Amino acid sequence: MDHELILRSLRRAVAASPDDRALRRHLARTLVEAGAGEEAIAHLSTLLAADASDSESAQLLERALAASIDSAADQPDDGAVDSAPTSADDGPTAPESGPRAAELASEPSPSAAEFDWAAAEAQVDGLVDPMFVGGDGDEPDTGAFDVERSGLTLADVGGMQHVKERLDAAFLAPMQNEELRRLYGKSLRGGLLLYGPPGCGKTFLARAVAGELGASFISAGVADILDQYLGTSERNLHELFELARRNAPCVVFLDELDALGVRRTQTRHSGMRNIVVQLLQELDSIGADNEGVFVLAATNQPWDIDPALRRPGRLDRTLLVLPPDQVAREAVFRVHLRDRPVESIDLAELARRSDGLTGADIAYVTELAAERALLDSVRSGTARMIGMPDLLAALREVRPSTGAWLDAARNVVLFGDDDGTFDELRGYLKKSKRL
Ligand SMILES: Nc1ncnc2c1ncn2[C@@H]1O[C@H](COP(=O)(O)OP(=O)(O)O)[C@@H](O)[C@H]1O
Ligand SMILES: [Mg+2]
Repeated sequence: MDHELILRSLRRAVAASPDDRALRRHLARTLVEAGAGEEAIAHLSTLLAADASDSESAQLLERALAASIDSAADQPDDGAVDSAPTSADDGPTAPESGPRAAELASEPSPSAAEFDWAAAEAQVDGLVDPMFVGGDGDEPDTGAFDVERSGLTLADVGGMQHVKERLDAAFLAPMQNEELRRLYGKSLRGGLLLYGPPGCGKTFLARAVAGELGASFISAGVADILDQYLGTSERNLHELFELARRNAPCVVFLDELDALGVRRTQTRHSGMRNIVVQLLQELDSIGADNEGVFVLAATNQPWDIDPALRRPGRLDRTLLVLPPDQVAREAVFRVHLRDRPVESIDLAELARRSDGLTGADIAYVTELAAERALLDSVRSGTARMIGMPDLLAALREVRPSTGAWLDAARNVVLFGDDDGTFDELRGYLKKSKRL
């Protein structure tokens, strides 16, 4: 408990003066001692990236890595608990997690390892209330939507210069500068639909915009809106827009719009049709004023969106978010390697060799590389940094995940009705010789 308090103030202090090396090292040491290896490794990597000769940090990193290797080496044992035929009559032992568990891992505690929680749960099933319950229905309806507190900013988004410029022109600049808005007589309303293959950073980008805008960004996942009860989803949507109107100027983010704004002709389910109608009404601000309410939406399936949603004043602008180009890939690699223990990484080389991969694919490559270095360290017993060979090996394993999406897109552009919505997509497919 005390530990947690100290850690919290230390974290705050480091956030306030990120360049204070002694302070950051102190935080890292405390984290190592508390068993929070991953977080410690991130700080130590930051320190070592700025000064590789910092031997104190290097030693701490060794310790942190060794500790995380220990807990990784314990994993297979944990996994065996589920499959091993164990008897349920060993006394129950309180499950441990977090730092304390890491301490306990070195103590022999056979009963903890052998107690079969699944079997025990099956035995008491129906006798006692479940440990965790879904939040459906019981929660108060107000305050269901969050004003985002994301630490991300646009600077964390690698590359994507073109997309950032469009976002800036469409609403960031006008929102942050009322004078300019008046000068150009530009009203701040309407919306922008981000679309493109999955994993290319649409949600990530929106979270970065949220970080830029702070309190004036409201994010709503489809799960927050859709409700099984008749009429509740519509009411949720209305509440969302009311909240935005009260907070104007404000950006409302609707992620995975395809689940919400499907073509009315496609929905056999009349409930879904009502939701689309409600969304149209909110966008047209029937009986309300949408000035200063800007809607940002994202989808992997723009061709499933009701065309009525794209009329002027609604989601009237579309923006294609593509797999990252070489410059962007370099940035994405940098972002994902920044907090890991790496050495001698040639980012340009990685970017050259990852053509076609999405941001999510690249994130996965760095995961695989880290896993490889970790396993290697477990085998050899000495911790080592993640190097180019790990990343190149991981790159050979990962294939671009965009294939299916591009095929679907090609069909839409070739055979769908063309109202100019997908011009940008058509251009891209032509340029990449897929049309
Ligand atoms: N430009 C980028 N810079 C940094 N990371 C990125 C970028 N694009 C994608 N990523 C990574 O890929 C992950 C998946 O992206 P996401 O925004 O969920 O894709 P989408 O919403 O388009 O399906 C993100 O969480 C992030 O880690
Ligand atoms: Mg997404």
